[in-house]
Amino acid sequence: MASVTSLSDSVQQHLASALTATRPEAAGADPLLRRSDRADYQANGILALAKKAKANPRELATEVVSHIVTGDLIKDVEVSGPGFLNITIGDRAITGNLAARYADDTGRLGVPHAEHPGTTVIDYAQPNVAKEMHVGHLRSAVIGDSVAQLLEFTGESVVRRHHIGDWGTQFGMLIQYLEEHPHELDHEAGEVSGEEAMSNLDRLYKAARRHFDSDEEFKTRARRRVVDLQAGDPKTLAAWQKFVDESKIYFFSVFEKLDMEIRDADIVGESGYNDMLAETCRMLEESGVAVRSEGALCVFFEDVKGPDGNQVPLIVQKSDGGYGYAATDLSAIRDRVFNLKADTLLYVVDARQSLHFKMVFETARRAGWLNEDVTAQQLAFGTVLGKDGKPFKTRAGETVRLVDLLDEAIDRASAVVREKAQDLSEQEIAERGTQVGIGAVKYADLSTSANRDYKFDLDQMVSLNGDTSVYLQYAYARIQSILRKAGDVRPGAHPELELHEAERALGLHLDAFAETVAEAAREYAPHKLTAYLYQLASLFTSFYDKCPVIKPAPPRDVAENRLFLSDVTARTLHRGMALLGIRTPERL
Ligand code: ARG
Repeated sequence: MASVTSLSDSVQQHLASALTATRPEAAGADPLLRRSDRADYQANGILALAKKAKANPRELATEVVSHIVTGDLIKDVEVSGPGFLNITIGDRAITGNLAARYADDTGRLGVPHAEHPGTTVIDYAQPNVAKEMHVGHLRSAVIGDSVAQLLEFTGESVVRRHHIGDWGTQFGMLIQYLEEHPHELDHEAGEVSGEEAMSNLDRLYKAARRHFDSDEEFKTRARRRVVDLQAGDPKTLAAWQKFVDESKIYFFSVFEKLDMEIRDADIVGESGYNDMLAETCRMLEESGVAVRSEGALCVFFEDVKGPDGNQVPLIVQKSDGGYGYAATDLSAIRDRVFNLKADTLLYVVDARQSLHFKMVFETARRAGWLNEDVTAQQLAFGTVLGKDGKPFKTRAGETVRLVDLLDEAIDRASAVVREKAQDLSEQEIAERGTQVGIGAVKYADLSTSANRDYKFDLDQMVSLNGDTSVYLQYAYARIQSILRKAGDVRPGAHPELELHEAERALGLHLDAFAETVAEAAREYAPHKLTAYLYQLASLFTSFYDKCPVIKPAPPRDVAENRLFLSDVTARTLHRGMALLGIRTPERL
């Protein structure tokens, strides 16, 4: 793999050796290198060092500078302020470095893998069987998909787990109803659309509910069904499977609309851990992690108390013997740690479930399933709000169906595309409209840090100005059009050329792609990548304003070099957007 050392890493190395040469005890000290407005980079680390060594910071800085070899990489370094270093990079190094990234034919732009990749199991996109998907499921899917891709890009082994809600007492009612009204879900595979599948389920759910609420005998039969289901009665399981299959038709249609690849093998719902539940409880009880309290098997926590001041336990087994959400999650942890050999467990789940995960993780830690080397973390996301700042609801006060929302985004985006379209056919408009609309929804979700709530505002999302995916998609398509218009002048790096200020700014930012991706992956923070890409598009715009590429025609080598810079920008946009799960159409 052709990985490229970034300019900042090279500078960092130079500084580190200069520091050690100045003061041997400074070996390993962080020079605190940052991009800066005054020069290309600023190093602030000498201040702390001087404090420790009781030295005058400016004098120490001057001494460090005397050990820095200037040349192609570091063109200039000077002491500023109380003891900062201002560092200017040579144009040759900027272009040369980008040329090395451009030459990487793996499409990774020279981005290296992490030094010590591990195995992460990521739990995301987990809707519930026989229920509509809503905006909460959207967030989990969108954030999870991006984080999984970011991690994979850094070389991590990623196992995806879609922990769908496919088990529990509510199925007794559904199964019993189907039992008494057979053929209601009969059809050949592939015969119904996702939309039809969902409306079938919805109809059944409502009918079953009606019976359940009004007919005591049905209620009793439904309750018995739950017992049959948990005992694995074949006929009951077959009926249950019908619900799961029908739901999957619907889920897959939504994931497809979201332009997201979800694999059936990765869907391991709550039912998948049924065989482990009894053992999980036995292990917890035998080790004393869980205790019997009023017949239920409970785990207590010092700091988890109810309004009355009493501790509120995590219930792993109810007093009637039934297992719930917690027992399933604890069993899933065992599976992920001991069978899938994960060292990191990540859960992309609504912040409203934070207490559940806190208790589940602490229980697993007490049981010895999690420890310093094997950790679990909830990547908690906030609520999607309506324009009024309240949780997103329809006018009638119902939760908004995800499909409706996506369709509306696609409609709005298609209108934007149509308005701008010059030479696009109807089919192309529809296709681009989908890519722009879905991209807009994903980008809006990913560009605020996950733990924050955000307002679902379609007008803002598909706006061409501002921090939106459309803006980035247009920047990408614009570069493609420039490359087409350039005719037989092809992109080519010319490291010997002096660069314009705007070219340098663009070049240095392009170089920072590697560290941005590494940071976004390490911190599970796709919003750091969106911020980077947005700035990239802005820097490209000012570069393109100030540095003519085609007209008025610059000298050939300059034109080639500018096309080259444009193409590296396009490739970086493309790669970055792909890591967010967003398409970059060639024409818009
Ligand atoms: N199905 C749940 C819901 O819709 C989310 C599942 C989260 N994952 C987990 N391992 N508990 O709220």
